[in-house]
Amino acid sequence: MNIAIIGYGKMGHEIEKAAKAKGITVQSVININDKNAKYKEINEESLKDVDVCIDFTTPDSVVENIRKIASLKKNIVVGTTGWYDKLDEVKGIVNSNNVGFIYATNFSVGVNIFFKIVEAAAKLINKVDEYDVFGYEMHHKNKVDSPSGTAKSIGNILIKNIQRKNKLVFDKLDRKIEPNELHFASVRSGSIPGTHSVGFDSSADTIELKHTARNREGFALGALMAAQWINNKKGFYDINDM
Ligand SMILES: NC(=O)c1ccc[n+]([C@@H]2O[C@H](COP(=O)([O-])OP(=O)(O)OC[C@H]3O[C@@H](n4cnc5c(N)ncnc54)[C@H](OP(=O)(O)O)[C@@H]3O)[C@@H](O)[C@H]2O)c1
Repeated sequence: MNIAIIGYGKMGHEIEKAAKAKGITVQSVININDKNAKYKEINEESLKDVDVCIDFTTPDSVVENIRKIASLKKNIVVGTTGWYDKLDEVKGIVNSNNVGFIYATNFSVGVNIFFKIVEAAAKLINKVDEYDVFGYEMHHKNKVDSPSGTAKSIGNILIKNIQRKNKLVFDKLDRKIEPNELHFASVRSGSIPGTHSVGFDSSADTIELKHTARNREGFALGALMAAQWINNKKGFYDINDM
């Protein structure tokens, strides 16, 4: 399989490294400004002999990138976040061009395993009223958004599977928490790697599940797994389908 890396930033470099280690050919690297990338534009020449494009760019550019890639009939993996209000538009582009497309808010293999573990735990806790539920996430000081998208996903898994909790509270609580509320806190400091934790607390004990990212490697591996999965497929998918 030959891939094109669209966006030669932190993730683009990580994918290049991981692809080399896995024996996947990086046929093309496209970055709008970067002189180190082979190409600056998505076109017939830059996607020649490419099977799957992997986009880790910006929310502003990703939809236009998808449009160009789909019109050149190439399959697409999208790791870029922050474009989900255009999901229907993108679905239309994918289907009208009859290409394969997969996206994830978080491509980390470990995080996706963590989601499944949290889901299974939530189903158990749903049956035991004595346990209250909480979550928190911690990230480095340069992270721009809060709460993290991953925290939102974890919160939604908890709410979906624990009937007595139906409201997520990400903001600070300056009052007593309501029984139906689930508090999920965010902390930003120093170089803390992405950390997400879920806790179940009773008067007798606390159960805590935690995922800590060590680096960006997990995202790159997941995106490459997605590229292998979407190669030769058609249609619109997210990571749960994979
Ligand atoms: N789904 C996941 O698992 C996951 C994991 C990590 C990150 N992300 C997301 O992936 C995106 C990128 O993250 P990052 O940390 O790699 O950011 P980054 O280091 O800022 O890299 C983005 C790169 O895309 C380039 N770019 C912008 N517009 C472009 C276009 N139209 N065509 C080609 N290249 C373009 C930028 O070029 P210039 O700098 O020259 O402008 C930059 O080099 C973000 O949305 C982030 O939230 C998702």
